[in-house]
Amino acid sequence: MTEGQPRLRAAASGLLAQRGIRVEENELVITTGSQQAIDLTARSILNEGDLVAVERPTYVAALQAFDLNSPRYVSIPVDQEGGQVQKLLEFASSGTLPKLVYLVPNFANPSGACLSLERRVWLARFAVQHGVFVLEDDPYGELRLHGSPLPSIYEIARSTPGAEKWCAYLTTLSKTMSPGLRIGALAGPEQFIDKITLLKQAADLHTSSFNQEVAARYLEGDRLQGRLDLIRREYRERQNCLIDEITSAFGSAMSLLTPEGGMFLWGRFRDGTDTRELLKHAIAAGVIYVPGDCFYVEQPDRSAIRLNFSAAPPEVIRLGVARLKYAHERYLSAFNGSGSSERRLELLGQRVLARVQRST
Ligand SMILES: Cc1ncc(COP(=O)(O)O)c(C=O)c1O
Repeated sequence: MTEGQPRLRAAASGLLAQRGIRVEENELVITTGSQQAIDLTARSILNEGDLVAVERPTYVAALQAFDLNSPRYVSIPVDQEGGQVQKLLEFASSGTLPKLVYLVPNFANPSGACLSLERRVWLARFAVQHGVFVLEDDPYGELRLHGSPLPSIYEIARSTPGAEKWCAYLTTLSKTMSPGLRIGALAGPEQFIDKITLLKQAADLHTSSFNQEVAARYLEGDRLQGRLDLIRREYRERQNCLIDEITSAFGSAMSLLTPEGGMFLWGRFRDGTDTRELLKHAIAAGVIYVPGDCFYVEQPDRSAIRLNFSAAPPEVIRLGVARLKYAHERYLSAFNGSGSSERRLELLGQRVLARVQRST
């Protein structure tokens, strides 16, 4: 069945119900990861030249999926309350109303920002008033480490007259159960889901039945809750560790957004460090991150950096930050081109690495 096996669709709608999202079976399709849901949504909605609004910064692989349909982009700046969605009004009045708004409202990749309740409500109303389709991508909502969950835009839209036709919600088991299983779920209005099902039939007929069975059995048991408790506890410790290490290593040279969940910290070098240039030194020092400039559709910020805290335990995070600090010193020294400071940094680097080796 292209739309997914009944057993998994039932389990997935149970999972969404725990998040306060009510979906009927005909409003849900199982996808091969949420990446496929983004791709199919883009194919179902976009024609060449259509406008898509994304956050600034936004999830880079969503752009890859959108790009295949040759759209144009507008971008919405992100602050501590998530995307400044009210900017969409400016686009509406300047004749550049997007056809599709894509956003990650909970602990976004890469910014970690969480869209405020007020902005969620505003966006649901805007969607119906202006006939703009909203794709809400929520892989990280269950990775809340602090504070209380907020209702999804999708659920808000369902209690906003007319808006339910204009919103779709997608999620994945990749960030909680297993990324390799490739199980995602897309919920939306019935007509939209029918179209997605046809497109999915052309793409891969259906998501692996074996993987669907594994996921259904996993969700039917009580394993997910136990796993969530474990990863939240671990990630909280790892996030605190990364914040502390970065703050003590870089002080005021780097500004950090400190999110209430997810997997990432989003930083900005205040000293104008170019993080793509820094990357060469970082790789040489044995640490890696994602340079911020790839997350933009326009005017990339070359001093931004995405740091991950979920993948490594605290002792490895400490090692990584020490290496990053060393790489930054090397970068500054190469940038300033000073021979004597080169020697000084060589010694500093040796000291840092010796400390790191002792601590592991
Ligand atoms: C915002 C966002 N959406 C979608 C995905 C894709 O996840 P999946 O493994 O379910 O395809 C990711 C993965 O990193 C992501 O960060």
